[in-house]
Amino acid sequence: MRLATLKSARNSAVALVGVCFASLGCNHIPGRPGPGPAVLRPDDVLAFATLYKENCAACHGENGKNGAALPLANPVYLAVVGEDRLRQIIANGVPGKLMPPFAKSAGGMLTDQQVASLAQGLVRTWGRPGVLAGQNPPPYLATQPGDPIRGQQAYATFCARCHGAAGEGAPGDPKSKSGKIGSIVDSSYLALISDQNLRSMTIAGLPDRDMPDWRSDLASSKPAQAMTSQQVTDIVAWLASKRSVNPGQPYPTQP
Ligand code: HEC
Ligand code: HEC
Repeated sequence: MRLATLKSARNSAVALVGVCFASLGCNHIPGRPGPGPAVLRPDDVLAFATLYKENCAACHGENGKNGAALPLANPVYLAVVGEDRLRQIIANGVPGKLMPPFAKSAGGMLTDQQVASLAQGLVRTWGRPGVLAGQNPPPYLATQPGDPIRGQQAYATFCARCHGAAGEGAPGDPKSKSGKIGSIVDSSYLALISDQNLRSMTIAGLPDRDMPDWRSDLASSKPAQAMTSQQVTDIVAWLASKRSVNPGQPYPTQP
């Protein structure tokens, strides 16, 4: 009887130690990281601010402004491009240009969920509902072929006063924050960017540098004259006609 009691007491002690070990013990095995400050696996990062900072800020600028590539903190741009297309662009990049593909399925490092979080975060963080004020901007994609000759005329109407008669640049108004404006017909510049990127800027403007959107003169005293989709397409065709076969080489080697 006493022996049995002793045995069962011992058994339950062993069991108790076992339960203790199972519930807490393993967490104290030396060398095993404890539940300290959580460092997420790269795949688990879903916060827009972190994803943007780590993947986009170097080219598109901290806070979506003043980077080398198109400013993304532009509510008009975000309204024109839309969240679905943002997701596609982020996933697949712009082939042949400096915008890399980010989705794992396209050779990048981000999961589909992370790509979706970026697209959604761009719109939520920097978009502004109602920014188009009921006006219809030209569509993101061109629908007709462009005509460079008509484009030159439209350029003279809408762009020359800031960019110079031939796109060569201008000293700029010293009072404006933009200052000197560089050439937009330089062959090295045009080689780096796609027709679509020129279209996006022409439609959405560059608010951080005082370049107006397709509605053109809204801010000035003159009555606003908005650009049509065809005028945007033609201006892009005119700019594209300035691309050279040998960008950046003044003396191409003779064939
Ligand atoms: C009110 C002045 C203004 C008008 C009008 C204007 N822009 Fe601009 N644009 C700017 C400024 C300022 C910049 C920034 C220039 C710089 O950083 O060298 C700029 C930049 C650009 C860029 C990018 C250049 C770069 O270095 O990335 C393109 C392309 C461009 N404009 C095209 C156009 C076209 C096409 C039109 C006409 C539809 C137009 N702009 C009308 C002021 C203007
Ligand atoms: C290495 C530089 C670089 C990085 C990093 C980069 N981009 Fe870009 N991005 C570019 C360039 C350059 C373009 C213009 C490509 C072209 O000519 O069409 C561009 C284009 C885009 C466009 C399309 C603009 C248009 O014309 O409508 C979007 C949207 C965009 N990037 C979003 C992002 C986001 C979001 C990230 C981060 C996940 C990112 N980019 C990271 C360089 C970069």
